[in-house]
Amino acid sequence: MTRPRVLVTRAILEAPLRRLREVADVCIASSEEPLSAEELRRKADGVDAILCHLTDRVDGALLEAAGPQLKIIANYAVGYNNIDLAACRKAGVWVSNTPGVLSEATADIAFTLMMAIGRRVVEGDRLVRTGEWTGWAPKQLLGGDFHGRTLGILGCGRIGQAMARRASGFGMRLMYHQPRPLDPEVEESLGLNFVSFDVLLRKTDFLSLHCPLTEETRHLIGTEELKAMKPTAYLINTSRGPVIDEAALVQALQEKEIAGAGLDVFEEEPRLTPGLAELDNVVLLPHLGSATQETRTRMGDLAVANILAALDEKTPPNELTGN
Ligand code: DGY
Repeated sequence: MTRPRVLVTRAILEAPLRRLREVADVCIASSEEPLSAEELRRKADGVDAILCHLTDRVDGALLEAAGPQLKIIANYAVGYNNIDLAACRKAGVWVSNTPGVLSEATADIAFTLMMAIGRRVVEGDRLVRTGEWTGWAPKQLLGGDFHGRTLGILGCGRIGQAMARRASGFGMRLMYHQPRPLDPEVEESLGLNFVSFDVLLRKTDFLSLHCPLTEETRHLIGTEELKAMKPTAYLINTSRGPVIDEAALVQALQEKEIAGAGLDVFEEEPRLTPGLAELDNVVLLPHLGSATQETRTRMGDLAVANILAALDEKTPPNELTGN
């Protein structure tokens, strides 16, 4: 009997792939860089499953190039804005993602960014490293307290709630906004207050974004929203870059309309909007939210479990329906 073929579009940690190799021929694209759309289509030809990344665009043309035997697109990420779900549904191809396993790691990075920008960690490191530090000084690189200040969470799903748990350990006040409030028991157990979007913008000292990228959330934070924030407030983004209008953010930071920003994601990764990298009041990370050994292993395990289910003609445990 011929073994199914699985394309892995960029190498992942080896351990999760072992189970897959027992039942399928696994082809791993050798390049460290994302494949071009054309290469992706060529490599997908005739495969039964694709383990893809947020850097791959999955659309009707790719599905057609793969052929009717394709059973599943397993996205190695929780966010799936890179996938045309409607086209997959039309082609009868399952789509899965990796929810749950990366919430803690991503909240860690959001919290790290909040502390790094709020306590001027990167500026301090630079001062020491360049030899420009002349010793302790009473007004040197003053940041702000965290305890008693307000963290605003936009999108309070698994990652937003993990962020809330960290912040309450630091004595912060918590408010959040999303389309529908959480269950009152969840709000109570985490000390979260549901507020309108407008109140969230105006009242928070740190605004952390944890919403998915959709047509509704694209450029949700733009010129007007940045103007509504306190001039002492910080913006943290570990969700998806295009939730922020990056040109508007650069302008707001240059004009000190807000105090600073901590960003792990960008509008057109890896390109940065001109002016962003020159600013002192930003901390910039290269999309590291889920980048721990343990988390990336669990993401691989989940992606493989979904592929194995689909190859066995069973509904994948993390099936995305888009409803
Ligand atoms: C996700 O899972 O969506 C992350 O951005 C990947 O690290």
